[in-house]
Amino acid sequence: MITSRNDRYFKGGFSGLMIAAALFFGASAFSTALANGTTKSKPEEIAKLIPHETEEQYNARMSWWIHDRFGMFIHFGLYAAPARHEWVKKTENLDNKTYDRYFTDYNPDLFDAKEWAKTAKRAGMKYCVLTAKHHEGFCMFDSKFTDYKITKTPFGRDLVKEYVEAFRAEGIKVGFYYSLIDWHHPDFTLDSLHPQWGKVDRETFDKGRDMARYRRYMLDQVTELLTNYGRIDIIWFDFSYPGENGKGRDDWDSAAIYTLARKLQPHIIIDNRLDLNDVPGGTDFITPEQYNPSTWPKLDGRKYAWETCQTFSGSWGYSRDEMNWKSAKQTLYSLIAAVAHGGNLIMNVGPTARGEFDARAKARLDDYAKWMHANSRAIYGCTEAPEKYRAPEGTLLTWNPETKRLYIHFLFYPAGQLGINFGKDIRYAQFLHDASEVKVALAGQGGSFCDNESGFDAHLFFPAVHPPVEIPVIECMMK
Ligand code: GLC
Repeated sequence: MITSRNDRYFKGGFSGLMIAAALFFGASAFSTALANGTTKSKPEEIAKLIPHETEEQYNARMSWWIHDRFGMFIHFGLYAAPARHEWVKKTENLDNKTYDRYFTDYNPDLFDAKEWAKTAKRAGMKYCVLTAKHHEGFCMFDSKFTDYKITKTPFGRDLVKEYVEAFRAEGIKVGFYYSLIDWHHPDFTLDSLHPQWGKVDRETFDKGRDMARYRRYMLDQVTELLTNYGRIDIIWFDFSYPGENGKGRDDWDSAAIYTLARKLQPHIIIDNRLDLNDVPGGTDFITPEQYNPSTWPKLDGRKYAWETCQTFSGSWGYSRDEMNWKSAKQTLYSLIAAVAHGGNLIMNVGPTARGEFDARAKARLDDYAKWMHANSRAIYGCTEAPEKYRAPEGTLLTWNPETKRLYIHFLFYPAGQLGINFGKDIRYAQFLHDASEVKVALAGQGGSFCDNESGFDAHLFFPAVHPPVEIPVIECMMK
C-alpha cells in the first residue's frame, strides 16, 4: 500500500472512494459543506479532500525549488501610487470611492518586463513571484470576472502576461501571489482587517454580501491564472487569520483552492497560508516573514521545506519615504543565513508607479549580483552543514552534499588565524571569489594552538587584507 504525505498521520482515516469522489466532483462541494459549520473543519476531513502523493513524489516536486534557494518577490499594484505601504487602504481606512483615485490614472508607463527579468537574473534569483492581486483587490491581469483590473486603467495592458513571458525567457521560474483577502470585492464580508472595520455598522455593511460568491470568484480567477499563462511554478495564497472576526480555511474553502491549483498545474508549489498547516499534505513550505530563523524550522516535529520572505526596507509595495533600508551586508546575510539553516530566501522589490525598480532597490540587487557572481556555488544546491562541522566564530556554514564542499561565510573577517574542528576532513581549501589557496595547518603543524581545548584540530590562515568581497567565502573540498 502506498503511504502518502496525507495519511502519515491519519492512517486508515479515509476511504479511497471518498478521494475518488472528491477528485471527480472537485473538492469544492465537500469543503463548502464543511465551510458552513460553526467550528473549524477538522484536519483529517480536509486531508481527504486534497490531492495525495507519496513522500518521494513530494520531494521530486520540490526539488528544483530547494536546489535554487533564491527568488524575487514583486509587490506591484495600485498602492505603488500612494507610495506609503501596500496596506494604505487599511491604515488610512479608505473606502472604495476614495481609493479609486489611484485607479483612474494608473499608468506604469516605464514598465519593461524584460528589464525586470534581466535584473533578477543578474542578482542570481532563480524564481519570481508577482502579486497578481493583493489585498486591495486590484488585478494585474485581464480577468473576465472583474473590471477592477489593469486593462481598464490608462495602462491598458495585461502586465501579468508580459511578466510571465519575460521571466520565462530568462530561464527564471514563474510564480503568482494571489491574495485571499479582497478589500474591494462586493461579496467580501467585514472582518477585523478590513479598512472599514470600526467605521461602519457590520450588519449594514454585510447585507447582501455572500462569501459563497466570493469563493466562486477566487476559484474562477485561480483558474484563469493557472490556465491562461502556461506553466506556472509557484503560487502564494495570502493569508489566513482565523477566529471570530477573521477568516480562515472554511471562509476561503482552502481545500478547494489547493486542489484546483494542483489539478491545473500538478507540479505547482504552494505556500502555507491557506490555514492548512495542521493538514498533512496541505503545506508545501513554511514562510517565516521578515526574519531569519536561527535553526531549521519544523512542522509536526520534522524539519520542513521553508522560505523566508523579506523586504529591503519594511513595506512590500513601493514606499517613497521609507529610509530604513538594509545594508549590503544585511541583504547578503538574509540569503546566506537562510541556506545555512536549510531554507530559501525570496527577496522583495516594490516597483514605482511608473513601473520601475527604484535606485535603492537596484543598488541592493546589484549587491546580490556582485556577490553571487563569485559565490553562487555556496548557495545553489546547498543546505545546512552536517552537525559534526562546527561553524567557526563569526561565520555561517553552507554545505553541498553532492560535491561534498563546505562553505565558510565570514560575517566578520578574522585576524590572522581561525580555529576549526574539521581540519582533518579538508582535502583542499580556497577563497571562492578568486580560487586562491587558503592554508590549513593541522594541530602540531604550525598553527597557534592556545585554543586547542575548544576541540579544534586545525587553523585556517588568512591574508591580512580583507578580500574585495562584502562577505568572503572559503570553499573547503572535503575528503
Ligand atoms: C503579509 C502582508 C502582505 C505581504 C505578505 C508577504 O501577509 O499582508 O502585505 O504581501 O505578507 O509575505
